[in-house]
Amino acid sequence: MSIEVLHRSREEFLAALTAAGTDPEGIEAVRVRFAGRRSGLLRDLEETLKGLPREEKPAYGKALNELKRLVEETLGAAAEAASRAKASTGLDVTLPGRRPLVGSLHPVTLVRREIESIFLRMGYSVADGPEIEDDWHNFEALNIPPDHPARDAQDTFYLPSGMVLRTHTSPVQVHTMESQRPPIRVLIPGRVYRRDSDLRHSPMFHQVECLVVDEGITFGHLKGTLEAFLHGLFDPSLAVRFRPSFFPFTEPSAEVDITCVLCRGAGCAMCSGSGWIEILGSGMVDPRVFAACGIDPKRYTGFAFGLGLDRVAVLKYRLPDLRLLFGGDERFLRQFGMGVPA
Ligand code: FA5
Ligand code: MG
Repeated sequence: MSIEVLHRSREEFLAALTAAGTDPEGIEAVRVRFAGRRSGLLRDLEETLKGLPREEKPAYGKALNELKRLVEETLGAAAEAASRAKASTGLDVTLPGRRPLVGSLHPVTLVRREIESIFLRMGYSVADGPEIEDDWHNFEALNIPPDHPARDAQDTFYLPSGMVLRTHTSPVQVHTMESQRPPIRVLIPGRVYRRDSDLRHSPMFHQVECLVVDEGITFGHLKGTLEAFLHGLFDPSLAVRFRPSFFPFTEPSAEVDITCVLCRGAGCAMCSGSGWIEILGSGMVDPRVFAACGIDPKRYTGFAFGLGLDRVAVLKYRLPDLRLLFGGDERFLRQFGMGVPA
């Protein structure tokens, strides 16, 4: 009879606890009702034990102890579940919001866009071409025959098919002249590849090619264009220097240096102590290139130049090593805005 009361109390307790769910106040109410020190049901049941006849005490006492243990353990588990539930749904509206990380443009992209905008304002159009080239476009049509030493100077990556990773953007000059008639005024940015790696050289880098073809184009147009461009890109106080040079596809040719902005001309590791940094090669389009592209060299003249975009980024952002641009190091890229909260 009294054992049955224990069974019923057990069922009642479990039902009440289930009903309370993960509500901490409900669980506390169940605890008070069943395990409260003063008036809890377990306490009453202990009182009952005291008044029982001797022979009934052992069985009742055992069942009561089991019930007490059950109540204690289940209440503990329920309280824990309740606090876990609170933690997972707990919303503290006073906390500051988390701002999303916002990416930004790569420094090379920033520089490319700036250069494009300078030339777009001067009436140029922007073109591109394939990064995998045939020998004709990368070399032959540019007046670089198979045994020409310029092929070594541009340490080429060859593909098994005999195609090459273009070593410069000049092959797009050829594509352009094969498909368009003068007047031509075009700017060609793109990735190029060479077996080269040090502070100023990366095996993959970027060039911007410029090509102008029309009647009556002279070296004066080239010089004026380059000066306007370089002074627009850097501050006009930087010195620009033309050095006589040689390219198989231009005649005459000049390489152009500007004052090393890292040391302002004093000499540092970046400029190998010279105070100058070479940023582009240029010249008047060689008549043989016109002939290879089906343009009449008697009627037309033109100029072209090829600029190292990464070198410009190095100078503009004063980078100690050109290869930083391609390391993918977030600590570096973040300085250009990547990962900075909006
Ligand atoms: C050329 O590539 C010629 N095609 C440029 C040209 C175009 C001349 C049109 C005349 C007419 P050069 O190999 O010097 O030239 O490279 C041009 C520029 O690319 C260099 O001035 C330099 O700024 C950059 N450059 C060359 N090699 C690397 C390299 N490994 N990493 C980064 N920049 C480089
Ligand atoms: Mg060079």
